[in-house]
Amino acid sequence: MDIKLSAKALNNNVTLIDKDNNSFAKISVNNIVVDFSDDKQTLLECLENANVEVHYHCRDGFCGACRVSLIAGEISYPNGEPLAYIGDGEILPCCCIPITDITLEID
Ligand code: FES
Repeated sequence: MDIKLSAKALNNNVTLIDKDNNSFAKISVNNIVVDFSDDKQTLLECLENANVEVHYHCRDGFCGACRVSLIAGEISYPNGEPLAYIGDGEILPCCCIPITDITLEID
């Protein structure tokens, strides 16, 4: 894939886009790096496709079972803020997408 880095402003955040205007990001998690290149999928689906184990239950932002720590970078919740409790520095991969390169910590 021919990638040309550029950025666009989206809700005051920076989104990485390729030459075809598709968003993508690098996800660093537990010493591996995963490409997020399909914004039709959630972060959880992307991690599963890369065989990164993440606990989950509802897959829709209600239960909080998928909660992981966001060490660096930014994400967004395309369908609105989830209902499950999220502590400082935590995200719910089942209903978010990265909008920058991100670093996660999964226990
Ligand atoms: S799996 Fe339930 S909030 Fe993510």
